[in-house]
Amino acid sequence: MNRTRQADLGTPASPATETVDVEIDGLPATVKAGTSILRAARESGVDIPKLCATDSLKPFGSCRLCLVEIEGRKGYPASCTTPVEDGMKIRTQTSKLSQLRRNVMELYISDHPLDCLTCSANGDCELQDMAGAVGLRDVRYGFDGENHLDAPVDASNPYFQFDASKCIVCSRCVRACDEVQGTFALTIEGRGFKSKVSAGISEDFLDSECVSCGACVQACPTATLMEKSIVDHGLPDHKVITTCAYCGVGCSFQAEMKGDQVVRMTPWKDGQANHGHSCVKGRFAWGYASHRDRVMKPMIREKTSDPWREVEWDEAIEYTAQRFKDIQTKHGRKSIGGITSSRCTNEEVYVVQKLVRAAFLNNNVDTCARVCHSPTGYGLKTTLGTSAGTQPFDSVMDADVIMVIGANPTEGHPVFASQMKRRLREGAQLIVVDPREIGLVKSPHIEAQHHLPLLPGTNVPIINALAHVIVSEGLADEKYVQERCDLESWESWKTMILKPENSPEAVGEVSGVDADAIRAAARLYGSADNAAIYYGLGVTEHSQGSTMVMGMANLAMATGNIGRSGVGVNPLRGQNNVQGSCDMGSFPHELAGYRHVSGEEVRTQFEQHWGVTIDPEPGYRIPNMFDAAVAGEFRGMYIQGEDVAQSDPNTHHVEAALSNLDCLVVQDLFLNETAKFAHVFLPGTSFLEKDGTFINAERRINRVRPVMEPQQGKDEWRITQEIAQALGYDMNYPNAAAIMDEIAELTPTFNNVSFKFLDEVGSVQWPCNDDAPMGTPIMHVDAFVRGKGLFVETDYVPTEERTNRKFPLLLTTGRILSQYNVGAQTRRTANNVWYKEDLLEVHPSDAEARGITEGMLVSLASRKGDITLRATITERVKPGVVYTTFHNPETGANVVTTEHSDWATNCPEYKVTAVQIAPASHRSQWQDEFAERAAEQGKIAETN
Ligand code: SF4
Ligand code: SF4
Ligand code: SF4
Ligand code: FES
Repeated sequence: MNRTRQADLGTPASPATETVDVEIDGLPATVKAGTSILRAARESGVDIPKLCATDSLKPFGSCRLCLVEIEGRKGYPASCTTPVEDGMKIRTQTSKLSQLRRNVMELYISDHPLDCLTCSANGDCELQDMAGAVGLRDVRYGFDGENHLDAPVDASNPYFQFDASKCIVCSRCVRACDEVQGTFALTIEGRGFKSKVSAGISEDFLDSECVSCGACVQACPTATLMEKSIVDHGLPDHKVITTCAYCGVGCSFQAEMKGDQVVRMTPWKDGQANHGHSCVKGRFAWGYASHRDRVMKPMIREKTSDPWREVEWDEAIEYTAQRFKDIQTKHGRKSIGGITSSRCTNEEVYVVQKLVRAAFLNNNVDTCARVCHSPTGYGLKTTLGTSAGTQPFDSVMDADVIMVIGANPTEGHPVFASQMKRRLREGAQLIVVDPREIGLVKSPHIEAQHHLPLLPGTNVPIINALAHVIVSEGLADEKYVQERCDLESWESWKTMILKPENSPEAVGEVSGVDADAIRAAARLYGSADNAAIYYGLGVTEHSQGSTMVMGMANLAMATGNIGRSGVGVNPLRGQNNVQGSCDMGSFPHELAGYRHVSGEEVRTQFEQHWGVTIDPEPGYRIPNMFDAAVAGEFRGMYIQGEDVAQSDPNTHHVEAALSNLDCLVVQDLFLNETAKFAHVFLPGTSFLEKDGTFINAERRINRVRPVMEPQQGKDEWRITQEIAQALGYDMNYPNAAAIMDEIAELTPTFNNVSFKFLDEVGSVQWPCNDDAPMGTPIMHVDAFVRGKGLFVETDYVPTEERTNRKFPLLLTTGRILSQYNVGAQTRRTANNVWYKEDLLEVHPSDAEARGITEGMLVSLASRKGDITLRATITERVKPGVVYTTFHNPETGANVVTTEHSDWATNCPEYKVTAVQIAPASHRSQWQDEFAERAAEQGKIAETN
């Protein structure tokens, strides 16, 4: 019996609201108009046999197994392609239907290996189930004739195999790749008996366009497309619903278990963020959780030159507390602090910020969101009143024009990208604002109406120019603005935006984008019924990141594009819990729910609950911590799940700061780059061991459920709690649920949230309180949270990072689908088959001018440092711009990035660095030193 298969109603739900009455096998049923007979029957508990239909795909009608009889109609129509009609009388079981279905099954089985008992899908095969359902007992045709039984197995993909001998050519895989994933990698080649599934012309899966999302594997009703983990370990016997721990889409998964071993992760159909879809990372790249590099015992050392010494938890916690106490005694209360991680659960993050505020007794807590989306919080709160995106992901299905700015959804947010691509194939129009020609600009059945390939650092002039056209050409929604926005700010913003320097012609000069293209894009956005903006780190990681976020909010308000489905300003958050780590009060100036620490009323509320006095002064931000460490004023740090030595800009400066600390405590899965400077290493837990919640980019609070015990012996929130206790503060939660109860009690936007409630409803989008008991999918519906929407003037102040003769090119960075951030997890999986190293993309003209050819080793030098990496020559980047990813610590991409940062939030300007490139013969000095340190650590960098 299959214990983990998800229910399948055969065809997608009808979007209709009206219903019709039908009779199925003599029993009345009321279903939505437009529902297929197959689905109507299944909704009523009648399982009509089926093979080519599944409820994630449009009906296809090829297998002829789902035949029914309809009173008053001739023949035997396929129930999957026939919609119900009012008064219809349907029979699903007659002797004629049984005979027809048996004949169909007989033909399938006559060309299918009869190895059910030893097949890895035995017990989880729809073909096997259907043979039983139609009562097939024997096959009249022999196997002597032409057949496919010797067809080869394609095992090229590291995670799944394709055994062509078992294929029934139902086309579910092809349709899943087209309709669900939008990659169009598969085709049915040939006709009739010769027809077969093919991943490109004579290509295997690995070499094809396939992006390994797993949608075809999930759709396949036989053992043809099968996870290798199931082939190796057998079928699961139970499942736990949890949430992917990679990106901010927050996909829900069934962790499918055999005993205490995970054998498969299957995207959960009821997951509201992903609706049963996945990408290669969440679906397959979870093996890092049991990688041999994982540290399982706490370790301490007096000096970083000493070898690590494994100790028991009690000793590690006591040692940590004592060193922190000593530092504070000697250097004062404010000499230590902590960094929370967007990789961790809300509950884990909350206790770290509480440790800092209630046990360290200062506000020196910051989060890694500082270096990615802090401008989102500032910009959206200032203009709209809430530090978060405005829409649910599903809203994109109502958008007519989609503007993607500084984001690469197909690589960074793949499951949402698939949904966006579906909407684009339905006819929505696309504007891409990006220095590179990202995949979305031109992909199967999609072509952007406008790609504005701006120079890195010129987002603000572009958004101003778009607004300039909209205002000057009368495309603004005056009525909306008059009703909903602050009119004084509207008038002054209009004056600013109409200045000549914001005209497309003037901005064209600055940004390198054709003025006509800017005008055309503005007209498209400004005249759409529903226009939506999606943006990423290509917006925030600039010295004007906050200005640009406000610029986008201005544009959306001016055109009336906030407050309903299909519109909005939507950050595509990078990490799984960026939203949550910000919500939990891990900024140095804000308590949970974005309330300033200087507010007495708020402080009093926390003080009464926590039994301490909270410092009313904001603490250090991450860059301030590093500066103070270099200056010798900041001496101790507790870093939760974050590799600052690799992920923060200006590596030399970060390393100098970390080396200067008297006590650095790192809590992580692996000995990361930061741990090279640590005195205490506290092993962390993977998402498979965590009990808590993540909050995705659409403010959705998802449950993360443990599928196994913490492998290193302790929940992460418990580690933090015990450090607090050792420091003398009585933190005493019995479980993670109790932490969420406290968060809910102290945070107005979370008042109704609890594990119990989430277990009942699945997930919920905050605010979730008495005003919105079931959460808030769309923000600012009747009015902006701040009251009147505020237009903020967004004059362009260029970055201080300028090109010159010595550094004539601009470096910008991004990521690829198969890898995740600094690669700590994904580099420890088979995803490495798609990634060998970080490459530097160079335009052919820049390459030629420097004698650089494809694959050549080049040195990349900035004012801050130099590294060496391999070049690839491509027109994806424009002349004057180079681009690389940052997934491997050995690349050291942040050795060259600068200390420039967003004026409002200090978010580093990763996306703009003036550089020069030249052919190189060997790696840089920093890379030599890095390799030496890695060798000293006794740790080989894990690649390939
Ligand atoms: S591989 Fe599976 S889904 Fe694809 S056609 Fe064959 S049986 Fe159907
Ligand atoms: S894994 Fe995804 S991309 Fe690859 S063929 Fe299957 S559906 Fe298409
Ligand atoms: S899209 Fe993001 S959340 Fe979803 S499976 Fe991929 S990495 Fe995980
Ligand atoms: S399930 Fe209807 S024709 Fe295949």
